[in-house]
Amino acid sequence: MANISSLFVTRLYRAKLSEYAPTIDARELETSCIVIAEEDEAGQDWCEANGYPGYTSYASLTDLPWRFPIFADLVKVLDSHVAAFVEDLEFDLGDGKLVLEDLWINILPEGGTHSSHIHPHSVISGTTYVAMPDGASALKLEDPRSARMMAAPARRQDAREDLRTFVYVAPKVGEVLLWESWLRHEVPMNMAEAERISVSFNYRWE
Ligand SMILES: [Fe+2]
Repeated sequence: MANISSLFVTRLYRAKLSEYAPTIDARELETSCIVIAEEDEAGQDWCEANGYPGYTSYASLTDLPWRFPIFADLVKVLDSHVAAFVEDLEFDLGDGKLVLEDLWINILPEGGTHSSHIHPHSVISGTTYVAMPDGASALKLEDPRSARMMAAPARRQDAREDLRTFVYVAPKVGEVLLWESWLRHEVPMNMAEAERISVSFNYRWE
């Protein structure tokens, strides 16, 4: 019997925020995101000028954790999840550590999408899910080796998850996903009538 192993593995971290303290109240987080979006006129203008569907605070609010206590609490929780993922990834960070680089709110209306991208200057990227109505988009992750595959055949429809070229993950409210920042990802069209709300973030090495 041949021995077949997996090499060059891509890890995906999925957990409940509540695995670490402090506790984040899901309703309060949702309300905070909505209120901040409604009051952030600079952000709304940016989204309109850039053809961004819905709302993101990415370009307008760089200090959410300093301005809103619930986001300060959220960062503490995320720090713990990122530390756990760093353990799993067996990173040697030397004397350095991973620190939050940025954190932003995304509100995606029905029909909204967020096209495929990576986060070049970061180590770990992730999202926690604040409102995921029925039919809300999953996160679509792409095999980082896609560009090298040349004549490789497509995988069978029923190929196991770790062999697929695209993997769709549909997290629940209160869950957090983490991946390495070079991993290409996108949010396909939101088919839910209600808004899909999430908070995304990057961690850098310093
Ligand atoms: Fe992203």
